[in-house]
Amino acid sequence: MRQTLRPLIAANWKMHGDLSWTSKPSDFAAIYPASERGHLDVLICPPATLLASMNDGVLLGGQDCHAAVSGAHTGDVSAEMLKDAGATYVIIGHSERRARGDTNADVNAKAIAATRAGLIPIICVGETENERDAGQAETVVSDQIRASVPDIEAYVIAYEPVWAIGTGKTATPKDVDDMHNAIRAQVGPTVQLLYGGSVKPANATELLALKNVDGALIGGAGLDMESLAAIARAAPKP
Ligand code: 13P
Repeated sequence: MRQTLRPLIAANWKMHGDLSWTSKPSDFAAIYPASERGHLDVLICPPATLLASMNDGVLLGGQDCHAAVSGAHTGDVSAEMLKDAGATYVIIGHSERRARGDTNADVNAKAIAATRAGLIPIICVGETENERDAGQAETVVSDQIRASVPDIEAYVIAYEPVWAIGTGKTATPKDVDDMHNAIRAQVGPTVQLLYGGSVKPANATELLALKNVDGALIGGAGLDMESLAAIARAAPKP
């Protein structure tokens, strides 16, 4: 039987967008009205500079946060600041942050900070191509989850195989199914599990139909509201 968790369709805008993009939530709502999507949540995580100016129409989130509430951390943003600017979620431990030095311990501390601020952390995990080729994908991901997920009640896991991000290479439905089943066994029945890595309107239906895929974390295709809406419409009704 398919899962019954509420689908979460999340766009990670990464370092894209200027103030003219702050009307995109209302553009999205015009394409896919809220009255037709009561069964799912749609989230946009814009650059922090845009967060406070974003229009209504979807949920909003940050792309990373510092573990501290405030302090001498030039260039960083705290979870409390994101919350203050309108966020309800924050992405933590994206592979692009891990590649720049975030360890599992950092991700763990940031997830605690997110919870402290009243945000739901979306904790990203995923193996590299070499790790997959060596048959270590499930071990790598379960180790990342063990070390980067603190003892908190509410969180989301995003499985994003590093080799599938921004490459146009999507993991096969069988690979995603196997990994999500393994993650489900590790984290239990109530945690939403998102797949990320070259999700597009053309492959969303197949991926979102998998038993333990409760949504998607979308990069490139989430910059365009027509394609984000097409992906969101592909989410099955629980
Ligand atoms: P793409 O959808 O562009 O592959 O990016 C995925 C991603 O990194 C979302 O966080």
